[in-house]
Amino acid sequence: MRKKIIAGNWKMNKNLKDSLDFVKELETHSLDESVETVLCAPFHVLYELGKASKHMVTGAQNMHYEDDGAYTGELSATMVKDTGASYVILGHSERRQYFFETDEVVNKKVKKALASDLIPILCVGETLEEREGERLWTVISEQVQKGMKDLSADQAKKVVIAYEPIWAIGTGKTATSKEANDMTVFIRKEIEKMFGEVAKEVSILYGGSVKPENIREIMAQSDIDGALVGGAALKADSFVKLVNYKEI
Ligand code: PGA
Repeated sequence: MRKKIIAGNWKMNKNLKDSLDFVKELETHSLDESVETVLCAPFHVLYELGKASKHMVTGAQNMHYEDDGAYTGELSATMVKDTGASYVILGHSERRQYFFETDEVVNKKVKKALASDLIPILCVGETLEEREGERLWTVISEQVQKGMKDLSADQAKKVVIAYEPIWAIGTGKTATSKEANDMTVFIRKEIEKMFGEVAKEVSILYGGSVKPENIREIMAQSDIDGALVGGAALKADSFVKLVNYKEI
């Protein structure tokens, strides 16, 4: 059975003190153990966050595909592993948009993450223009195919995909649960075309203005296995509600 995953993405928010306060509050709640709780935090707090939390695992928000060398300001997969993180978000639309990451670069990162025993959360998503211009399916298909290029079936099943329509990120607008589920089904078919049966084992998350008010409906969809959450993961009480969505 596919894992249910609720992953927070703090983006460039929180200092060390605020991060540790968050964990302290989180640890006072009981979290649904059938859900994998992941917190993708800025690099400077990952190590401390990992040590302080018993009920969740951590993830980075980016990494470089090279092992080491003259890449000022970058972090390697080994460095991410050193923090104790198990996941790494790759190809988030903000990295594609502001830091010009291409599908080819994202693919190199996905391969390096897998070779380093990190679970990549590969983000894909379309702009509003692409959706309205009916390029939606082509754009997503390309991102999935290029992002997962040259993986073995065994590697492919370890990848987590996050479908995040760009127009829904941080805007308060969400795709309808049907739109999100239809896309998830489509992504799984694309993975099946590339890797066969293992597509059934790939966890596919939805992201874009997920909050306690809509998580239950999202998680009730046939093919959505979890959520990647920005804004609503910044406060411990709201993040706990998302993880414990079955109680809402
Ligand atoms: P949001 O961000 O939940 O604030 O829309 C999601 C994301 O960018 O991963």
